[in-house]
Amino acid sequence: MADEQKSGGQVSRAQLIELLNEDLAREYQAIIAYVVYSQAIKGAEYMAIAKELEKHAGEELEHALTVSKLIDYLGGEPTVTTKPVKTSEKAEDMLRFDLDNENETVRNYRERVRQCEALGEFAMAEHLREILKQEQEHQIDLATALGENVPDVSKMKTQNPKGEGQGEGRSSNIH
Ligand SMILES: [Fe+2]
Ligand SMILES: [Fe+2]
Repeated sequence: MADEQKSGGQVSRAQLIELLNEDLAREYQAIIAYVVYSQAIKGAEYMAIAKELEKHAGEELEHALTVSKLIDYLGGEPTVTTKPVKTSEKAEDMLRFDLDNENETVRNYRERVRQCEALGEFAMAEHLREILKQEQEHQIDLATALGENVPDVSKMKTQNPKGEGQGEGRSSNIH
């Protein structure tokens, strides 16, 4: 499956269920990271972004519900497993982990929209586009807080399927 998936080519419905479950696991990861980081981030200069992260947490929960609904619609079973969440004491690290994850998320949802359309699942693609819009806003919020431009994710390398190996930082599973 990996080859077809990477080239953005046609996938079967069974493969789409599997890929949406990866997206769902990524949404769980985002919920956990935003819940924890929004409270753990310290420093007067980060108070505005901390509020923003709290808002993101709620939006990621909405995404998780939508993606679960799509998986169920396809006859699949929504996963109960999250991708690992990194931890750090440093505010800048937290923002960096979030931005890395959002980049990966945007890259995946763009691919998922194309895959849904290739299967004639236009309404599903529409739901994913709505999510994608918010993920891109999250990217902008984080890049702005880090004083950077939003990276061009179409040129980024794919992560391994478990969502691991995105640079340094301790990894811990918070279940
Ligand atoms: Fe999300
Ligand atoms: Fe997001």
